[in-house]
Amino acid sequence: MSEPLLSEDRGAVRVLTMNRPDKLNALNHALSQGLYDALWAAERDDAIAAVVLTGAGRAFCAGADISEFSSLTAEDPHAVAARADLTMNLHLAFSRMTKPVVAAVRGYAMGGGCGLALACDMVIASETAKLGYPEVKRGIVGAVVMPNLVRQVGRKVAFELLGLGEPVDAARAAALGMVNRVVPDDLLLDETVAIATTLAAMSRPAMAATKRLFHRVVELPLDQGLQAGRDTNMMMRSFRTKSHK
Ligand code: COA
Repeated sequence: MSEPLLSEDRGAVRVLTMNRPDKLNALNHALSQGLYDALWAAERDDAIAAVVLTGAGRAFCAGADISEFSSLTAEDPHAVAARADLTMNLHLAFSRMTKPVVAAVRGYAMGGGCGLALACDMVIASETAKLGYPEVKRGIVGAVVMPNLVRQVGRKVAFELLGLGEPVDAARAAALGMVNRVVPDDLLLDETVAIATTLAAMSRPAMAATKRLFHRVVELPLDQGLQAGRDTNMMMRSFRTKSHK
């Protein structure tokens, strides 16, 4: 059986590829756990300064593996809780890591797959990308994906995506702020790695402090956000700065 997650280093960029192309990289337990472990392994590895997350084949990720749902029932609450914890912790990892993660999205990014893309710090999409949250059409809830979505696109658009369940194409996703850039399909990985390489070349303490502060200030009232910014402003005086000519 092939590995559900592939890992390849390109300089200081680790490329993680979800690798269940026959199932559109649906997130079964093994892939979810493997991705969670790989993100934290990248965070710990001094040779790595940025991560790219992508999918093998024609899709980024079609969300939770529906075929596993039948084993997750009220009859086994421990299994249900363990799986919910894994999904939550996976989505949380991106904002807890100090190294930037950039998604390279081709084809479908649905449900939990769209959630993973939006959990990344930047999203580069190919012209083939389709992003959406079809859960309600299946009688379930786009639940763990909801907090990131509503923070990033606002209430009206988030409710439209969750409530109607219709995917958006790459151009609309970019207009809605779900995607940073749209590139031709054949350039997707190279363009994404190039952006990740630029991020990786930045001062690591400055990038780590930027990410930490970024994820704090989006949650804080303005006065507390300014206070957190002030504290980081003082802390950064100890960084070794690059002189400019
Ligand atoms: N879980 C498990 N398997 C999935 C899957 C998922 N979320 N999404 C796709 N697959 C599998 C299909 O069962 C199919 O496998 P098979 O060839 O063994 O039958 C394979 O991936 C290809 O999918 P298919 O539906 O044939 O591709 P498509 O191009 O016609 O449609 C989608 C693509 C994304 C529209 C469709 O696969 C889909 O709606 N998937 C579910 C998306 C979803 O609801 N995600 C949220 C889950 S909570």
